[in-house]
Amino acid sequence: MTEIKRTADGSSTLFVPELNEHYHSVHGAIQESEYIFIICGLNFSKACPVRIFEVGFGTGLNAFLTSVNSALKERKIYYTSIEKYPLQDCLIEQLNYKSFYPNEFGYFFDRIHQAKWNTWQEISDNFTLKKIEGDITQHEIGGEYDLIFFDAFGPEKQPEMWSDEVMRKIAGITVHNGILVTYSVKGEVKRGLRKNGFKVNRLPGPPGKHQIIRAVKF
Ligand SMILES: C[S@@+](CC[C@H](N)C(=O)[O-])C[C@H]1O[C@@H](n2cnc3c(N)ncnc32)[C@H](O)[C@@H]1O
Repeated sequence: MTEIKRTADGSSTLFVPELNEHYHSVHGAIQESEYIFIICGLNFSKACPVRIFEVGFGTGLNAFLTSVNSALKERKIYYTSIEKYPLQDCLIEQLNYKSFYPNEFGYFFDRIHQAKWNTWQEISDNFTLKKIEGDITQHEIGGEYDLIFFDAFGPEKQPEMWSDEVMRKIAGITVHNGILVTYSVKGEVKRGLRKNGFKVNRLPGPPGKHQIIRAVKF
């Protein structure tokens, strides 16, 4: 049964005993997500508005941090995220992410989780969300995206999420010069991205992680 854990920066994460895997880095969930997805991904993208596609909605932490950034920068963001196993409310209620932000932003977290699945929902003036309940390995994804947050469980735990087929799907929805960020720098991940038209760059990682990937679609 999925368990709530506290990470080194005080923010929560979830642990899945069946996979022996955490949803985020134990060195700091917010610290890791902010660094990889916001600093290296969102802040690097020049697109405006920005169309984001996330693999693995999970706790909604990446969506929440993105909504805060959209308010701070007054930048319009359309955020689509796919999740095969939506979390139960009793777990979501125990996540402490909104306590790290002023109330004016904290309430985005609740709105993100209250939002209906499979339809666009306006969370704030600048942040519009569509949560898809589905399996990325089966689901037909359409549309065009400027930025991909690839946040599946690790390739050693869920290899099917990093398969050539999924990479091809992701490449098919990423615009020319679109960006993909992910925390795994495993050889098969780099090879899969290159094979499907991405130029792969490695960047220094957040605490506890040597490197991450920021890839650009050509
Ligand atoms: C590393 S966690 C995601 C963390 C998330 N981005 C967050 O901010 O909390 C990986 C997520 O992928 C989801 N997942 C697993 N298999 C999937 C599949 N076939 N399709 C879509 N999502 C899947 C898991 O349920 C989990 O929520």
